[in-house]
Amino acid sequence: MPSHRIVLTVAADQPGPGISRHLFGQFAEHLGSCVYDGLWVGPDSPIPNVRGFRQEAVAALRELRMPNLRWPGGCFADAYHWRNGIGPRDQRPRQRNDTWGQIETNAVGTHEFLDLCAQTGCEPVICGNLGSGTVQEMRDWVEYLNAPTGTVLADERAANGHPAPYGVRYWGVGNESWGCGGLMRAEYYADEFRRYGTYLGSYEKSALFRIATGPGLDDFHWTEVLMRACAAPRFNPGIMDGLSLHYYMNGGCPPARTQQHLLATSFGPEQWRTVMAHGWYMDELIARHSAIMDRHDPARRVKLIVDEWGAWYAPDPAPRPSAYFQQQTIRDALLSALTFDAFIRHAERVHMANAAQVANVLHASILTFGAATVRTPTWHAFHLYVPHQDARRLPVANSAALLSHDGLPYPRVSATASLAPDQSVTVTLAHTDPAEPVRIELQLAGRPAGARPVGRLLAAPELTDCNTPAAPDRVAARPWDDFRFESGRLTATLPPACLAAVTFR
Ligand code: AHR
Repeated sequence: MPSHRIVLTVAADQPGPGISRHLFGQFAEHLGSCVYDGLWVGPDSPIPNVRGFRQEAVAALRELRMPNLRWPGGCFADAYHWRNGIGPRDQRPRQRNDTWGQIETNAVGTHEFLDLCAQTGCEPVICGNLGSGTVQEMRDWVEYLNAPTGTVLADERAANGHPAPYGVRYWGVGNESWGCGGLMRAEYYADEFRRYGTYLGSYEKSALFRIATGPGLDDFHWTEVLMRACAAPRFNPGIMDGLSLHYYMNGGCPPARTQQHLLATSFGPEQWRTVMAHGWYMDELIARHSAIMDRHDPARRVKLIVDEWGAWYAPDPAPRPSAYFQQQTIRDALLSALTFDAFIRHAERVHMANAAQVANVLHASILTFGAATVRTPTWHAFHLYVPHQDARRLPVANSAALLSHDGLPYPRVSATASLAPDQSVTVTLAHTDPAEPVRIELQLAGRPAGARPVGRLLAAPELTDCNTPAAPDRVAARPWDDFRFESGRLTATLPPACLAAVTFR
């Protein structure tokens, strides 16, 4: 019998705020082999593709119901000039990508990116260049994308193959402007945001959702200044719709709270706990930034947009010579689950989030090895959370005491419950103990008898296992029915280090 027992009560008749599907977004930057090779192989590649994009990658992202994709950076966004990425592909300039020390062919530009969004069925999130661009360049890009034909820019879009306006809605006004995006002070950036934001057009099909560069990690001063200056300025109180937040559990850039040297696939109990505790720190970060936002915007009109998150490990003696390629283990799946749970706990304020990054870089859902596309344990965590997309959060009483590491708390079992529009209830359980099983008793209250639970479980044979072309499903979610369910009460023993999802219909 496990020595730990946890009692959870889900109030299924008390639906709370909506859980935006956009919390489960992804990020694709022109960095390493994320865009080139990870997603784009080109139309002439022997690797199966649709108009240049890997078929298997698109299929994997469709299965995740990826709600949005942020592009083209990251730091690269503030060095990117959109005109280099339109028109005949063979005439686009070949340039240096100085941000990441690689060659940029511009083969993936505006039209290709939006084709990828259409193929995967997601909304685009475009980050404009404030650092090295101009107001004119950024507003022209919006007009090129979104204006109906009849203007020079919209007609140019039509001539390039897309007569209908794209209707791009989510728009980042610069990226990490306190760092790679121009090393600006909060006060200076706030004025720049107001200036750029003023000229970004809203066209018929799209009311632009303007996202300001927000704080990195715990820069509460940045949040205070941005909210004071941009949450409701006189003459245009609606200019800022979102404020971003970047937090890498172990960066990298922005700096992490821990500078401990962590590797992706070789770790012991100490490093396991570091990832859990510093991962759950997202909850405190959001709470503290939100408290500042609440003072300036009690109606919560301005949303918090966590448009970069994930684990950023030190380079492993990796299977690939790139500082940004890293494998994923069950530890990363649990970090993902804790992060989702933190977002959902703050669903009133957090509207969107983007894992950094979607393929081959950092906290990736997809890894590619030549022609092979592999789904990582993080992909499986995203997949288990699909039922929470656009559902309503349900209260969960959790009897478990918090664990602690490095002076930071984290849950032994993090539980999230939601009520979907079809009235099904899904409960996800992230069990963070890597060594001991745990007994759970889950009471589904306020629900008519007769619900039937269907479960899936993600666990790994060994904690450091990962998926490869030779063993693509070593760490994969499988059907799970090793529980009892009577009178609305589910009892089960969860194995160490696992993520379970149960849907009651
Ligand atoms: O995701 C990698 C980089 O991390 C991004 O380009 C930047 O915004 C952040 O510092």
